[in-house]
Amino acid sequence: MKKVGVVFLVFLILGVASLFGEYNKDQVVSVMRENRTLVGQIQNALKESRFADAEKAFYRFAELNAAIQPFTPPKGDKKEWDRIMGAFVSAAVRGGVASRSKDATKSDAALKELLALSQEGHKLFR
Ligand code: HEM
Repeated sequence: MKKVGVVFLVFLILGVASLFGEYNKDQVVSVMRENRTLVGQIQNALKESRFADAEKAFYRFAELNAAIQPFTPPKGDKKEWDRIMGAFVSAAVRGGVASRSKDATKSDAALKELLALSQEGHKLFR
């Protein structure tokens, strides 16, 4: 089979697997590493009142974690995964909205929520 065909087939299989919510460890680990970077970026941006940067990072949080929400975690309860991931994505969007309106208090509160949800998630699934 030609190389293009093989690449296409691999993408097709990955696509179908993610439709069925199969856990992709590489993707989760890469999302988590970016999550860690985003926390630092938001903390610094808010400290320096760079709200546009905070907004961007909050929305990146939402985008990244929404992509892994359909996965079924290898340990722990899928319903809890959905609840925590759903709350995580909506707190990230709230942070984005708060930063857009330059509301430091609400932006800080959203970041705190994200950190609390991450602790909850790690206790159950990591
Ligand atoms: C502020 C948000 C978060 C940060 C900064 C964060 C950070 C991390 C880091 C640094 C790792 C280790 C990655 C590595 O192996 O190098 C990790 C792993 C993990 N995190 Fe998070 N996390 C966050 C939110 C969450 C949430 C909300 C959940 C679940 C609901 C979650 C579930 C997991 C799981 C399951 C792993 C293990 C991945 C694997 O090896 O299969 N995390 N996280």
